[in-house]
Amino acid sequence: MPGEKVTLSVIKADIGSLAGHHKVHPDTMLAASRILAEAKKKGVIKSFYVTHVGDDLQLIMTHYKGVDNPEIHELAWNAFKEATKVAKDLGLYAAGQDLLSDAFSGNVRGLGPGVAEMEFVERPSEPVVIFMADKTEPGAFNLPFYKIFADPFNTAGLVIDPRMHDGFIFEILDVFEGKMVRLSAPEELYDILALIGTPSRYVIKRVYRKSDGEIAGVVSSERLNLIAGKYVGKDDPVAIARAQSGFPAVGEILEAFSFPHLVAGWMRGSHHGPLMPVGLKDAKMTRFDGPPRVVALGFQIHNGELIGPADLFDDPAFDEARRLAQLITDYMRRHGPFMPHRLGPEEMEYTTLPQVLKKLHDRFKPYELGYKPVIKHSEELSGEEIHD
Ligand code: F6R
Ligand code: MG
Ligand code: MG
Repeated sequence: MPGEKVTLSVIKADIGSLAGHHKVHPDTMLAASRILAEAKKKGVIKSFYVTHVGDDLQLIMTHYKGVDNPEIHELAWNAFKEATKVAKDLGLYAAGQDLLSDAFSGNVRGLGPGVAEMEFVERPSEPVVIFMADKTEPGAFNLPFYKIFADPFNTAGLVIDPRMHDGFIFEILDVFEGKMVRLSAPEELYDILALIGTPSRYVIKRVYRKSDGEIAGVVSSERLNLIAGKYVGKDDPVAIARAQSGFPAVGEILEAFSFPHLVAGWMRGSHHGPLMPVGLKDAKMTRFDGPPRVVALGFQIHNGELIGPADLFDDPAFDEARRLAQLITDYMRRHGPFMPHRLGPEEMEYTTLPQVLKKLHDRFKPYELGYKPVIKHSEELSGEEIHD
């Protein structure tokens, strides 16, 4: 429908998996596909693609109902519910894990699934890249999205292409406080970095092209631990980036993942490890339940239909990034239970570690340090008040 806005929705959940938290079972994907096929027949969605990355079931859908649409979210919820039934029948591990509520209430955000959605008027040719990561958190996209949309050493188009030369607007979410700030690149690069360098708290949510306000990228920002107040798995994020003709080229978008940067997640959602770019065939977590991985699927959206996908990291050009990730994996693993392989204390609050430490509480006896320690908390970083 020319001129009409099409919506691309990527909604994912871990509804149970095969061999521990390893990979989604094909029968659960079939169950979800059946629900989406019915919805397509009824005209609720225009097209869909069901896949998985590790233990996360991924629903990719196009439709004309806009973002945060209750009908689309309910459809995704029902697909996850049906898939969960199969997971339970097969005795799959952690069946229904990410469905934190029994009942749907208008929007899947806050109920467990992760959501990245964007709405735009289709260009004559509309390439998009969909990222799906496992064993990590939404802030894992901070570094690569910064490189894609703000770093000319990654994205040549920021310098060369007049349609991109004005830069991009970053919408950054404080996931602790539920606040959002819009900052402009390149003028406010240092402010952007001051925030997104703390990826557990400040998450790039959306990116807009400055010259015309067009949506360029979006990331899921749901953090399960913060929703549930305890460890319920990591928040394995998804993201979308529009490519070419005034947006970063597909190659510039992928280039940002050639450096396997350290992210939080991995074993028990409690460790730092490298984010390894892989093709779908390698999107399954093994060593120490990882290392964390990211898949990139390229689609063309044409008349609202998803054409594709192209499995973009399934390419020897990313072999060296994978090899580096293996080396980093070895290096980090040798730290065993020590930081910075294990996450810091703020993040460990949401794991099962406090239960272990509680046991030791009464064994601590007073000790005269000879000084009174001054413990500082920065309000902006910890959410606590600053004491003098
Ligand atoms: C990480 C993840 C796994 C599990 C680990 C322990 O996101 O899902 O690393 O945390 O396998 O799982 P449980 O506690 O279910 O035995
Ligand atoms: Mg999981
Ligand atoms: Mg997962």
